Amino acid sequence: MPESSYIPWIIKYRPKSLSDYVDQEEAKTILLNWLKAWDRGSPTKKAVLLYGPPGVGKTSLVEAISKEMNCEVIETNASDFRRREDIEKRIKPAATKMSLSGKKRLILIDEVDGLSGTADKGGIETMLELTSITKHPIIMTANNPFHPDLKPLRDASLLIELKKLNQRDVVKLLKGICEKEKIFCEDEALKIIHTKNEGDLRASINDLQNLGLSFGKVTASLVNELIYYRDREVNPFDTLRNIFTSKYAWQSKLAVSHSQVDIDTLIEWLSENIPVQLTEPEDMYLAFQALSRADIYRGRMKRTQNYDLLTYISEMVGPAISLSRKKTKFKWIKYEFPKKIRMMSETKKARESLNKAAAKIAKVTHCSRETVKSEYIPMLRALYKVNKTLATQIMEGLKLEDDEIRVIVGKSKESTENTEPSSTGPMNAEESLRKFETSTKKMGTRARKKRSQ
Ligand SMILES: Nc1ncnc2c1ncn2[C@@H]1O[C@H](COP(=O)(O)OP(=O)(O)O)[C@@H](O)[C@H]1O
Ligand SMILES: [Mg+2]
Repeated sequence: MPESSYIPWIIKYRPKSLSDYVDQEEAKTILLNWLKAWDRGSPTKKAVLLYGPPGVGKTSLVEAISKEMNCEVIETNASDFRRREDIEKRIKPAATKMSLSGKKRLILIDEVDGLSGTADKGGIETMLELTSITKHPIIMTANNPFHPDLKPLRDASLLIELKKLNQRDVVKLLKGICEKEKIFCEDEALKIIHTKNEGDLRASINDLQNLGLSFGKVTASLVNELIYYRDREVNPFDTLRNIFTSKYAWQSKLAVSHSQVDIDTLIEWLSENIPVQLTEPEDMYLAFQALSRADIYRGRMKRTQNYDLLTYISEMVGPAISLSRKKTKFKWIKYEFPKKIRMMSETKKARESLNKAAAKIAKVTHCSRETVKSEYIPMLRALYKVNKTLATQIMEGLKLEDDEIRVIVGKSKESTENTEPSSTGPMNAEESLRKFETSTKKMGTRARKKRSQ
C-alpha cells in the first residue's frame, strides 16, 4: 500500500481553494464581502463567528479562503485549558501588529465553544478585548454559538451560518475521493454513509476511508453492516485511535465509554490492532498483558454474572492499554477489522443457507437443527464426494434450494448434469431419507473395512 494511504483523507482531501469547497454559496459570499470591507478599512464588525454542527466545513472554509486570498493564518491550537494564555501571549501581539511579510493576515480562533464554562475563566473577556483592538480580521468558529456565555462575543461579531451539505453534494464529493483513490463504490453506499452520519462530513469521509482501505470497495451491504448510526458515539476505528493517543487515564476511559461497540467487540478490535499500532515489543507486551487480564475478568463476569467487574474490564481496555504505549511513536495507521467479525459478516449468507437447510432436514428427521448440523450434514457432504448424483437427488428430495445445497457440498458444487441420469426420477422426502440412511450405513461399513485392512 502506498505511503499516502496512511494520510487521513479528511486532511488529504481538504479543499485547496474556494473552488474545491462545495456549495455554501451564501456563507462564502458574506465572508468574502466582509474581507473586502477590511481591505477598504471599513468593516462594521472586526470579527466573524462562523457556526454550524461538527464536520460541516467551518475550519476548511477558513483554510480555503485564506489560501485563495494568499493570507497568512494565525490560529490557536493550544488545548482548551491553555487557550487563554495562548491568546494573550501569541495571538494578541500577532493581531495588533502589521505582518512583516506584507501578506494579509487572518486570525482564526477555532471552536470558541471551549471558552465558555469554567474550563478557562476569563477566556471570553480576553477574546472580546481582542476583537476590539485587532488590526486584522478575526474568524471564530463554534458548533453552538447560542450558549449564554457566548452572548457578548455574538454581539461583537458578524454571525455566519454553515448549513449541512445536501446529500447530492456529499455523494458527489465522496465519489470524487473514491475515484482518486481508485476504490470501487456504490452510490447507494455513499447515500447511506451520509444518512448515518447525519451530515457530518468529517465522519463520512472517515467512514469512507476506513471501509475503502479495509475492503478495497465501499458497497451498500458493507456500509449497512459495519457503519453505525453516529448518534454522537464513536466508531471502533476512532475509539482505538482515541485509546492509543490518550495522554490521561480519563481520556481513555471516555474513549471506551463513548464507543459504539460493546466491550466484547472492543476486545476483538484491540486484539487485532495492538500489534499494528504498538510496534515496539515492550509496549505490545504490556498492552496484550492488559488485554488478557480484561479477557479473564470478562470470563469471570459472564460466569458469575457479577457485572461490577465491568469497571475493571474498562480500566484494562482503556487506561491500561493507552499507558502501555511508552516507546512507540503514534502513527496514523489503517486499523484492521477483527478477523472474527470480518469472517462472520462475510459468511453471514452461508450461515443463513446452512440454517435453512438444517431446519428442513430437522423437520423430516425429527431431530434438532444442531444434530442435523453436526451429524447429517457432514454425512451428506461425504456422500456427495463419493456419489454426486445420489447425494444431489437426496438433497433435492429433501426440497433443499440451490444455495442450501451449495453450502452443504462446499463451494465447488459440480454440475450434476453430466453425471449418470437417475433411473428412478425425483424422490420425495421420506424416500430421500431412507436412501440417505442406507447409503451412509454403506459408507460406514466401507470405511470400517478400509480401516481394518
Ligand atoms: N463544502 C465542502 N466542500 C468540500 N469539502 C468539505 C466541505 N465541507 C467540509 N468538507 C470536508 O469535510 C471535512 C470536515 O470539515 P471541517 O472544516 O473540519 O469541519 P468543521 O470545522 O465544521 O468541524 C474536511 O475534511 C473537509 O475537507
Ligand atoms: Mg473545525
